[in-house]
Amino acid sequence: MTTTGWRVPAPEIPASKAALPRGELAHFPRIRDEDHPTRWEFPSYLDNPRCRWLQALKELYEMPIVFPASLSPEAGLMLHSLVRNIRPRVIVEVGTFCSVSTHWMAAALHEIGGNGVIHAFDDFGPIHKGPWRDAEMLQGRREWVEDRLARAGLLDRVVFHPGDSPTQLIRAREELSRCGGVQFAFIDGDHTVAGALQDLWAVEPVLNTGGYVMLHDTYPEQCGGHEGPRHILDHLNAVSAGLYEACELYLSPLNYGMGLLRRIG
Ligand SMILES: C[S@@+](CC[C@H](N)C(=O)[O-])C[C@H]1O[C@@H](n2cnc3c(N)ncnc32)[C@H](O)[C@@H]1O
Repeated sequence: MTTTGWRVPAPEIPASKAALPRGELAHFPRIRDEDHPTRWEFPSYLDNPRCRWLQALKELYEMPIVFPASLSPEAGLMLHSLVRNIRPRVIVEVGTFCSVSTHWMAAALHEIGGNGVIHAFDDFGPIHKGPWRDAEMLQGRREWVEDRLARAGLLDRVVFHPGDSPTQLIRAREELSRCGGVQFAFIDGDHTVAGALQDLWAVEPVLNTGGYVMLHDTYPEQCGGHEGPRHILDHLNAVSAGLYEACELYLSPLNYGMGLLRRIG
């Protein structure tokens, strides 16, 4: 087809056209230290004494160790809602940490009914004090997480794969394929460029077409300089050969950012 005779001419693209540096993009969020929350507030509309898993989550959010690296209640609710709507049978979670995100997704599988399961990958190593976190857990995290999920009535929804996540993902591929592949992967582990890419590439061979990948911590300026998830979003076609469409999501009350990819090829 030629463009001769088209009534609306194509816009002229200046030869010098180039993406602006991130700092100059008006839509990139910025948080000033004085606006940074110091703990999670569990919203009163979620405080339902008759719901065991919500009560367990409320207790979890009261613990200083889960701030700020875990999903906020608002972000968790969004993840929960996505899982309830997409209804995956097999979820991969990379980066369980204190199991806040695990709770939100496992609770969604529980509410849907059926046999949906989360394969949770984490090294379960020590958690040290850090920016905005004056708490630590130097050992026993795996057992601690199991206990929390058991209290919520969600432990039977989770299969643990302790160790280095790309290595364990590659080991688990056969098991994941036998279950029909992965429909939803939540990647929130090693946030270096190499680490995030390795997690994506490790899960990709068993991610179904139409399946989703959720990346957390996509705004490095806000979330401690972690560049990995941002790199995947900014170089999506280069790193994934056009396999995904993508959308960025703002988070509240602390906008560390999320990216939602959908596998289309
Ligand atoms: C940001 S935290 C995850 C937060 C969690 N998704 C939540 O919302 O509650 C990152 C987790 O990934 C784990 N991690 C980092 N690099 C890893 C690796 N190479 N293999 C396994 N786990 C890793 C860390 O130990 C930590 O538990």
